[in-house]
Amino acid sequence: MKKTSTREQVLALLEENSCSYISGQEIADKLYLTRAAVWKAIKALQGDGHDIEAVTNKGYRLNTPHDSLSAAAVTAMLKHEGLNMPIKIYKEIDSTNDELRRIADSGTSVEFAIAADKQLNGRGRRGRSFYSPVDTGLYMSLLIHPDLTLTGATLLTGMTAVAVMDAIKEVTGIDVSIKWVNDLYLNRLKVAGILTEAFTSIEDGSLSHVIVGIGINLYPPHKDFPKELKGTAGVLFPSGTVEKNLRNRLFAAVIKYFHKYYTAEDKSAFIEKYRAASCLIGSYVKVNTYSATEPQKYAYVTGIDDKCRLMIRYETGENDLLSGGEVSVVKY
Ligand code: BTN
Repeated sequence: MKKTSTREQVLALLEENSCSYISGQEIADKLYLTRAAVWKAIKALQGDGHDIEAVTNKGYRLNTPHDSLSAAAVTAMLKHEGLNMPIKIYKEIDSTNDELRRIADSGTSVEFAIAADKQLNGRGRRGRSFYSPVDTGLYMSLLIHPDLTLTGATLLTGMTAVAVMDAIKEVTGIDVSIKWVNDLYLNRLKVAGILTEAFTSIEDGSLSHVIVGIGINLYPPHKDFPKELKGTAGVLFPSGTVEKNLRNRLFAAVIKYFHKYYTAEDKSAFIEKYRAASCLIGSYVKVNTYSATEPQKYAYVTGIDDKCRLMIRYETGENDLLSGGEVSVVKY
C-alpha cells in the first residue's frame, strides 16, 4: 500500500474540515505530528498552490477554488455544531423535494438533508416551477418527522423562512426581508422560496413526515432568468463573483438554524423575528382570490399573529386573518 506523506495527510484533514478552521494543535494531535511538522506541511501545500488561509487564534482553513457542494464538508460543519444528519448531494435531479420523498417512501425514519447543483423540474408553490439552473443557486430539501398536527406543520414554513434568513445573514452578512408566507426578498426582488410538503399516513391519517424544500438564488444564472421572472427574481450576489465554499456554508447554516427553531421548546419563538423582518406589515396589498369571477380585494396589513397568519383590514373596515394564499404589494 502506498504510504501517504505528511503533506497529503494534512491536506486530507483540511479537505474534511474545509469551510471551517482547524487549529495547528488539532492537526498535530490528530495526525501525531509536531506543530513544526504541521507548519512545514502547510507551507509546502500553500507553495503547491492550495488556498489555505491562516488566521491567528482560529487556525487553518482550506478554500476550495469553486463554490462546489460537498457532503463531507457539510457533514463536518454540522458535526462542529453537534449535529449529525445524513447528507446527500446530487449533480442533477428532477426536484430535491421529489427525491427526498422517494427516500422517505423507502422507509427512512431519520432526518435527512439533500441538495443538488441543478434541478430539472424544480417546483414552487401552487404548481409553479422553480427555476434551478446549474451551480448558481442552493437547491436543498430537509426531511423531518415532526410530532405535530397539520396546523403546527404550517408554522414550519414561517419557521423555515426565519432559519433561512438567519443563515443568509450569518454566512453572507446580507439582510433579507420576508414576504408572507415564505418568500425572501432583497431589494424588492425574490431571492429565495420555500416549499413545505406534509405527508400523512394512510393508516390513521396522522402526519408521517414533512419535506421542506428551499431554493436560494445566489448568482445570476448563466443564461439569465427567463422572461417571466425578469424584474421579480433576484440573486444574493448580482456581481456574479463566486464566493468560496458559500453553498456548503449556507447549506449547513440553514440546517443549523432550522434545527435551532425546530427543537426550541417554544415553537413560536421565531415569530418575533418573523414580524421584524416582514416587508408587508403596514403596506397595502391585493389579496389573491384565485378566482376569475370574484372582484379584486385590497387590504391594509396590520400585523402577523402568533400562528403566522396575516392580519389584514379590508377597505370596508372588516378585519380578516389569512392562513394561506398570496398577496401582492400595491403600496409600501
Ligand atoms: C416557491 O417560491 O414557490 C417555493 C420554491 C421552492 C424551491 C425549492 S428548490 C429545492 C426544493 N425542490 C423543489 O423542487 N422545490 C424546492
